Amino acid sequence: MAQVTSSLSAVFLYKHGMVFDCKKMMTIVILSNLIAIICTVVAHKQWGIFSHDPVNGPGLLADPSLKFAAVLFRHGNRAPEISYKTDPHINFFPEGKGELTKLGKQNMYKKGKIFRLLYNGFISDLYLDSEIFIQTTNVTRTFMSAALVLAGMYPPKDYQKWLDEETVWQPIPINQNSPDHGLIFRENCPSFSAISKNLLSYKNEENLTELLSYLSEKAGQSISEMDLVKLYDLFECQISAGLQLPEWITPDKFQTLKSIVLHRKRLDNFFGNSKVQKLVIGPLLKEIALTMELHSNNSISQNKLRKMYLYSGHDISLATVKGFFMNTIDMPDFGASIHFHLYLDETFGYIVKIFYYDRWNTEKEEELPIHACGNPCQLQNFVKIMKANFPRGWNEECQMIEN
Ligand SMILES: *[C@@H]1O[C@H](CO)[C@@H](O)[C@H](O)[C@H]1NC(C)=O
Ligand SMILES: *[C@@H]1O[C@H](CO)[C@@H](O)[C@H](O)[C@H]1NC(C)=O
Ligand SMILES: *[C@@H]1O[C@H](CO)[C@@H](O)[C@H](O)[C@H]1NC(C)=O
Repeated sequence: MAQVTSSLSAVFLYKHGMVFDCKKMMTIVILSNLIAIICTVVAHKQWGIFSHDPVNGPGLLADPSLKFAAVLFRHGNRAPEISYKTDPHINFFPEGKGELTKLGKQNMYKKGKIFRLLYNGFISDLYLDSEIFIQTTNVTRTFMSAALVLAGMYPPKDYQKWLDEETVWQPIPINQNSPDHGLIFRENCPSFSAISKNLLSYKNEENLTELLSYLSEKAGQSISEMDLVKLYDLFECQISAGLQLPEWITPDKFQTLKSIVLHRKRLDNFFGNSKVQKLVIGPLLKEIALTMELHSNNSISQNKLRKMYLYSGHDISLATVKGFFMNTIDMPDFGASIHFHLYLDETFGYIVKIFYYDRWNTEKEEELPIHACGNPCQLQNFVKIMKANFPRGWNEECQMIEN
């Protein structure tokens, strides 16, 4: 990119008679190439991924023993869900509340390139419906994130270029009705309504009253306990968009707000709750486990099964998965992903591993221990755990109110 621009500017200068002298021209060319090299080096440092672009050879996770991969990812950067009266950036997000931003689009496109880097060879570089299946929750930001990830993963090649001119994109189906219930707060689910308020309440939080009156005064409107999560989220969205918070959100105040909203006990309470787990990720984990089982059952011709599932979802979905496997819960950043892998191991047979990438541009995975499953985690144990923890369907679970 930088190379193209700098050569173009040299041509522009030349065409307009500003550079006649050959020596000068050489200097400009050398200088502009130098700039291009520096830019490329900076880009490598910043993005990492461009060093592998275009991807040739096997992906970093494309081990021959890998038989199936399911990837749950959080959508890209989005606009805040609310605004407040004195918000200086009230007009900064023309996309609308909660929608994917331009930065979010760029990041998810790059996330798709990282998936290509990880899985090249495991999935072919032509898009094949028989290999991969994509599902999304029912909001625009997850639909769009899925589309961008796929654009990054599947730049049209050879036969799949559908126009003579450069084609940077090809259509790939994105399916609704994801088993992921990361949008549970919007869904009609009585048993969730019955427990969520209590699980998320701020009990005996130090400094809460003082903070609320401070925020209300500065925001020019009443800020209640119920607004805190969305207000904190608004600040996070603005920071990630490169905006400056107003002076009255001092680092101290921000820290206090964060420590209240993301209090470890509060997160553990919520995401560690077995009813929340049943409702938010039960159907998703069961689908993944049963698909793995299907892959391991020799009776079914394995090449009829898709090798990869993608789920475009939410921070709540990812955090609940982490909670279920008893891993530390930090709210996942935009573009974070959890990867469920089924391997056919020479010694152990079918085993399951889970990897975590904490944000969109993380290239190095962290393996998440699968508590209660053993190490290695045998597929049959994994399936047993899922069946035991998620015995009922979602609708039935929603009607079963627990005390
Ligand atoms: C998806 O969301 C749209 C818009 O909010 C709504 O009209 C539609 O009924 C939803 N579809 C499903 C399957 O929930
Ligand atoms: C509450 O405020 C006090 C005094 O400002 C501070 O020392 C303490 O760390 C705060 N507590 C929390 C949980 O932020
Ligand atoms: C796999 O095979 C086992 C044993 O035959 C069977 O009990 C199970 O239901 C099969 N699983 C799937 C997902 O078809």
